[in-house]
Amino acid sequence: MNVPRDILADLRTHLEVEIQAGRRRAPIDPAVAQDFLLGVAPAAPAPAPTRPAAPPAPPAPAPAASASTPSALAAAAPDLAAVAAAVAGCGACALAATRTKAVPGEGNGTGPDVMFVGEAPGADEDLQGRPFVGRAGQLLDKMIAAMGYARADVFIANILKCRPPGNRTPTPDEMSVCIPFLKRQIALVRPKAIVALGATAWRGLSGDPGASISRVRGIWQSFEGIPVMPTFHPAYLLRCPSAKRTAWEDLKLVLARLGRGT
Ligand code: URA
Repeated sequence: MNVPRDILADLRTHLEVEIQAGRRRAPIDPAVAQDFLLGVAPAAPAPAPTRPAAPPAPPAPAPAASASTPSALAAAAPDLAAVAAAVAGCGACALAATRTKAVPGEGNGTGPDVMFVGEAPGADEDLQGRPFVGRAGQLLDKMIAAMGYARADVFIANILKCRPPGNRTPTPDEMSVCIPFLKRQIALVRPKAIVALGATAWRGLSGDPGASISRVRGIWQSFEGIPVMPTFHPAYLLRCPSAKRTAWEDLKLVLARLGRGT
């Protein structure tokens, strides 16, 4: 059966949370399982091979170092507007061909208390060129408001600046090509704390492609000297509202560290 990536990722996160809570048994109710998988299309039969596989292509030559790589462009950007312009003109990976608008990020770029880092633009963000403006963004707005801030008080950006088609998870290659833009933004914005939203955000910041969000969430991490609190992504919270309470505990740790705790 072909199970969509979101469902598998949610199931993995959910099971890890259960194990951490000390639960060792997960009885499966067939009715619930059926409901969970409703709408999941059965796997298409594998196409029969029609001709012998071609020999593997020789490895592509390493690209020559160029002044137009994200790394070089980000390093040369003196301010956030220059980063945004470089992002808008970037064609370093295949996502440039399918995006409507690049989504550099936005918000308070002068030492805000908090910078939120998400995964990648979705369909709404791709159309508007702004981060977190869809359903997940509406929940993020509520999280920001619950912390006592307005959206304009914080900076919001993503690991990837262009939408992966179909909202698939970014590949490690896409992340490593794009990450210099985010790193430059963090250096320019100088937030007091970063909230990494979901596994991809923390994987991008930590450089650990196997990091598990359920293991690191709620535990202070660090990125280039800036404290980072990983927590669940708002899209996960929309699919699994019972995890909102846990995410709120994580955000309260951020407020406490910023001296805004109750
Ligand atoms: N999800 C993200 O991770 N980022 C966005 O900008 C929107 C949805």
